[in-house]
Amino acid sequence: MATIKAAILGFGTVGQGIYHVVNEKRAQLKAKLGVELEIVKILVRDTKNERVPGTAALLTDSIEDVLAVDGLQVVFEAIVDEEPAFTYLKRAVEQRCHVITANKVMFAKRGMELQQLAKTKGVHVGYEATVAGGVPIIKTMKNILLVNDVSRIQGILNGTTNYMLTKMRQENWSYDEALAEAQRLGYAEADPYNDVSGQDAFKKIMVLCDLAFGEQPNWDDVDVIGINTLTTEQLEDAKAKGLRYRHVAEAEKLEDGTIVAKVAPQLVAPDHPLYPIDDVFNAVAMETNYIGTLTVTGPGAGMYPTASVMVEDYAEIIGKRAGFTVSI
Ligand code: NAP
Ligand code: HSE
Repeated sequence: MATIKAAILGFGTVGQGIYHVVNEKRAQLKAKLGVELEIVKILVRDTKNERVPGTAALLTDSIEDVLAVDGLQVVFEAIVDEEPAFTYLKRAVEQRCHVITANKVMFAKRGMELQQLAKTKGVHVGYEATVAGGVPIIKTMKNILLVNDVSRIQGILNGTTNYMLTKMRQENWSYDEALAEAQRLGYAEADPYNDVSGQDAFKKIMVLCDLAFGEQPNWDDVDVIGINTLTTEQLEDAKAKGLRYRHVAEAEKLEDGTIVAKVAPQLVAPDHPLYPIDDVFNAVAMETNYIGTLTVTGPGAGMYPTASVMVEDYAEIIGKRAGFTVSI
């Protein structure tokens, strides 16, 4: 049986999750796809830190080591920031590897470029994990876009801040306690300022704009306000009135074709669709011409939800390459 050689870039929450899912589902993947998946290299900065027992021999701090693997076919990327992630994935695509990324900072800025390059090389780019963790929003949107036009997208796109707002309301945790727990659970970004300032949700809504509208608004025209602007008094007042703060990202294509977007905390009443979305859950509603409003919801961050959709991307890509659709 053929073996697909794959590398993982980054071995934190998401990278380790990919390694675990691949190992736990090895037999199932092999049975469905007819090929073995072997993780042959893992890129980190600190190779002395094994992280997962038994992986020391796979660790490297050199991208050259990774890209030099004979017959490398798939690169999973779970590092942080635009660079060096973009350059690494560009190089991988240039040598005809499929790439699967969770990195929304890189993808919001360079995703279209990477996909264009991949098309010319005949390889695929999986990016389900860049938006809403384990929620299959990218697949869902791709599946309806042939005849449906999306006019508006609205949702909770950050798990960390929804978790924090939930715990501050339900358990009376302080902002710092809630953030520390979100970090411990692996929900927060390496720099959690990205979560609480709204920048993480902003990057995700930009990725969705690319997919739904084929373009993004000018980044400078988008107001981005985080939950770090909310005061204790505002949160207590909302609770006393039976209202809830949700951190909402939205984008809309206007009649004249202009794309507008904003990211900000919003106070919602019990009849609002985002009112019951608690904990680390995300929810994304798409307004379309034929279906009407379509909403998907689920865990928006965390090791297994995120890693599993990356391995689903792998299965879809390898299935496509073999000329069939993977069905469960
Ligand atoms: P993390 O726990 O901080 O892990 C990041 C990993 O990347 C670490 O192993 C780090 O290596 C490695 N790394 C960072 N910069 C590197 C570089 N320049 N060269 C080589 N290795 C580098 O982060 P994470 O939570 O797994 O998130 C990874 C990516 O997935 C981010 O882009 C994030 O936005 C995205 N994401 C995260 C989640 C989630 O729930 N956590 C969900 C969806 C998407 P060292 O350990 O040696 O420093
Ligand atoms: N830090 C991000 C969040 C991870 O909390 O939503 C998922 O993209």
